[in-house]
Amino acid sequence: MMKPKIVIGNWKMNKDFEEAEDLISTIEDELADFQLQTEVVLCPPAIYAELVTDHASEEGSNFYAGLQNVSEYENGAYTGEISAEMQASMDVSFCIVGHSERRKYFGETDEIVLKKMHRLLANDIVPVMCCGETLEERKAGKHFEIVEKQIESTICTLTPEELERVMIAYEPIWAIGTGETATPEQAQEMLAFIRSLIEKKFGTQLAVFTYILYGGSCNAKNALELFSQPDVDGGLIGGASLKADEFIKIIEAAETVIKDN
Ligand code: PGA
Repeated sequence: MMKPKIVIGNWKMNKDFEEAEDLISTIEDELADFQLQTEVVLCPPAIYAELVTDHASEEGSNFYAGLQNVSEYENGAYTGEISAEMQASMDVSFCIVGHSERRKYFGETDEIVLKKMHRLLANDIVPVMCCGETLEERKAGKHFEIVEKQIESTICTLTPEELERVMIAYEPIWAIGTGETATPEQAQEMLAFIRSLIEKKFGTQLAVFTYILYGGSCNAKNALELFSQPDVDGGLIGGASLKADEFIKIIEAAETVIKDN
């Protein structure tokens, strides 16, 4: 039997309070009618943490609360930062780490990404670790090498017990927000490669168990084909998660794939 899919909405720095409230409530209402096999996670900006955790904890709500970033430090004099402990105290269940936008604009290295993952794991929050290559790297045929390095220096340093509580999202940078999706074959090829790296280090059972998602211009039109690939366990959705109807269609695509298998 196929394991449940995961669909994560990464809102990035979008929506004012009223719009955020509206989007969360609409998604909540729409999903309430489903007997969902897909796990849905909403990651709004951190300032709306309470909004999303309140809704996620309501009876019958069909989604989890997530955020987009966390401090690499525990607590203390780090102005503007938000700790994993604070997130846990608000019942945040998932947190994205190492998104390419954070790597590019905020200087996040694999070393920092790993520290953040450890902070999250220590607070029982599932890190969703992003990896992926630039267009230049792909054109130069270096995409496997780049992703391997990212996985080796983060995921492969974890213990098996830690890996069990981590998810990975492969997001080719050239596909993020560009409308240019990786083909299902390209997504499958890289996700199978990532799984093979995990298998080499942790064995088959854990490799099969690990959630590996695809992200990058995933939308209502291409989700079904992407999610049908054997190694694609779901999607990390940016732009298309900002509209309730589009996001729901992506979740429906995940449900269709599960039902057909
Ligand atoms: P996109 O973003 O779906 O808008 O391409 C995905 C992401 O960056 O997580």
